[in-house]
Amino acid sequence: RNVRIIGAPTDFGANRRGVDMGPSAIRYAGLADELESADTEPMDGGDLFVPRAEERDPDADAPPDGRAKFLGETAAVSRQLGNEVARALSNGETPLVLGGDHSVAIGSLSGTAREADVGAVWFDAHADLNTPATSPSGNIHGMPLAAALGIDEFADTEWANAPRLSPENIALVGLRSVDPAEQELLRERGFAAYTMSDIDEHGITDVVEEALSIATEGVDGLHVSLDLDWLDPNVAPGVGTPVRGGVTYREAHSAMEMVADTGVLRSMELVEVNPTLDQHNETAELATELAASAFGKRVL
Ligand code: ARG
Ligand code: MN
Ligand code: MN
Ligand code: MN
Repeated sequence: RNVRIIGAPTDFGANRRGVDMGPSAIRYAGLADELESADTEPMDGGDLFVPRAEERDPDADAPPDGRAKFLGETAAVSRQLGNEVARALSNGETPLVLGGDHSVAIGSLSGTAREADVGAVWFDAHADLNTPATSPSGNIHGMPLAAALGIDEFADTEWANAPRLSPENIALVGLRSVDPAEQELLRERGFAAYTMSDIDEHGITDVVEEALSIATEGVDGLHVSLDLDWLDPNVAPGVGTPVRGGVTYREAHSAMEMVADTGVLRSMELVEVNPTLDQHNETAELATELAASAFGKRVL
C-alpha cells in the first residue's frame, strides 16, 4: 500500500512547547525506511502550514470562558489536515499523520470519517475527552475525542466533528490518567475503555483483541491514534505529559501487530513526540518502529 506521510507540526494544543518538532524528529528517526521494511510505499507530502506560537496570543480568540487555548489556530490546522487526509484517501493512499500534539486527531478523524464509516482505537494514557468547560488545563490536546464526537460545546462544530465516526466503534486502551468529568463521560456513554489494570489482569493481546473487534465492527475502516505517552516513560521519555505505569516496548509492538492483522487500517497518527524532552531521539525512533508494525512489518 501507499502511505501518505502528512506532518502536522503544531503545539498549539499542548501544555509544553516542542511537540511541533515531532514531524522532523520522526522523519529523521528513519520513518520512510521503516515503512519500506513493512512493504509499503511511503510518499511524503511534507508539513501543513502551522503558524509559530510566538506570533500568537493564547487568549486572542479563546471562547468567553477562556478554557480552550489557541482554539482559532487549532481550527485552522484541523481544517487543513482534514482536507489533506481526505485527499490522500481519495487517491487510494493511507494517511499517516505526524503530530504535533494530540489536537491533530481532530483533523485526522474529520478527514478519515468523511466518506466512510470509521471506528477508532485510542492508545493513550489519557482519555482526551475533556471539553472547554471541563478541561482542567485549557489545552486542546486533552479534548480531541470529545471534539470529534461533537460532545457538549463541540456539538455542531463543523471543523471538529467527524461525521461518520460512531461512539459505539471507539475503544480507549491503556488509560491511567483520567479527569473526573472524563470518568463521568466514559461511564455514562458506555465507551469501550480499558485501563492499565485491565491490561494487567487480562494481558495486552486479549485487551487489544477486544478493542479492535469493537472498533472494527460494522465499519469500513479503522483509525489508530497512537499517543506516545501510552508507553511507559522508561521507553518513551520524549512526551509532554508522561504518566508512569504505561505499556512496555513489547506490549506496544504486539498491539500494533494486531492492528496490522485486522487488515482494515485506514489511517493512523503518531502524536505527542516532543524532541526537547527526548533522549537521543529514542521516542521518535520508537514511533517509527510502531508505525511499521501497524503497517505489517514482521520478522519472518
Ligand atoms: N487530561 C489532561 C488535560 O486535559 C491531560 C491531557 C493530555 N493529553 C494528551 N494528548 N497528552 O489537560
Ligand atoms: Mn496522552
Ligand atoms: Mn477485568
Ligand atoms: Mn492523547
